[in-house]
Amino acid sequence: MTIKIDQFMCREDNFGVLIHDPESGQTALIDAPQEAPILAAVERTGWKPSLLLITHHHADHVEANLALKKRFSLKIVGPEAEKAKIPGIDETVGEGSRVPFGGEQAEVIFTPGHTAGHVSYHFPQSKLLFSADTLFALGCGRLLECAAPVMYESLRNLAALPPETAVYCGHEYTLANARFALTVDPANKTLQERAKRIEALRAEGKPTLPTTIGEELATNPFLRWADPEIRKNLGMENASDAEVFAEIRKRKDNF
Ligand SMILES: [Fe+2]
Repeated sequence: MTIKIDQFMCREDNFGVLIHDPESGQTALIDAPQEAPILAAVERTGWKPSLLLITHHHADHVEANLALKKRFSLKIVGPEAEKAKIPGIDETVGEGSRVPFGGEQAEVIFTPGHTAGHVSYHFPQSKLLFSADTLFALGCGRLLECAAPVMYESLRNLAALPPETAVYCGHEYTLANARFALTVDPANKTLQERAKRIEALRAEGKPTLPTTIGEELATNPFLRWADPEIRKNLGMENASDAEVFAEIRKRKDNF
């Protein structure tokens, strides 16, 4: 991995992330949840962003767009399908788009579900994924603009990335997600151990991210639609993978 990362908290539970390529000196920001903590991170790291990669239009991901653009004259890249709702957007992307950064290129993965135009940014060389509000540690985003099969397809695409890929998400929701995960997958030893680690990290006020695709495949119920134990617990042995996913999402909404 060549890209360096600085992750910090914004608002209540949003993550801000700066990524930096030491060779070229280039810095990018993933989403812009809040101006002050982002400025503090720039100050602390000395990494001045020239690029802002937006994942979706929600206010807690774009609020600081215009202020940061004014201060750093950075280029704002975001999903074509949501361009009208993204302040200051300069360039739009969709499935398969590539965004040059330092010595590599981010590959854009179209991941609708939480919003209809949500995109994730994958850096295959550095093995990094920024999945914002699509894939969370032990969870997935709420279905605010799409039906469950749409989110299922998006998650399936992310689940197919190399297992060692480090995953950075939009929010620190992991503890609540772990408590829910244990209700549908209670006998999963790897999940039990992870839940304990998460409890300890949160008790110390530490972040639970990044995670990896491999860790999520082993413990995140929203990617474990094919698992026989989970299917048995739900009474859905013969359902389709998408149906199992939809049921788990519904239960989490009512948890
Ligand atoms: Fe969101």
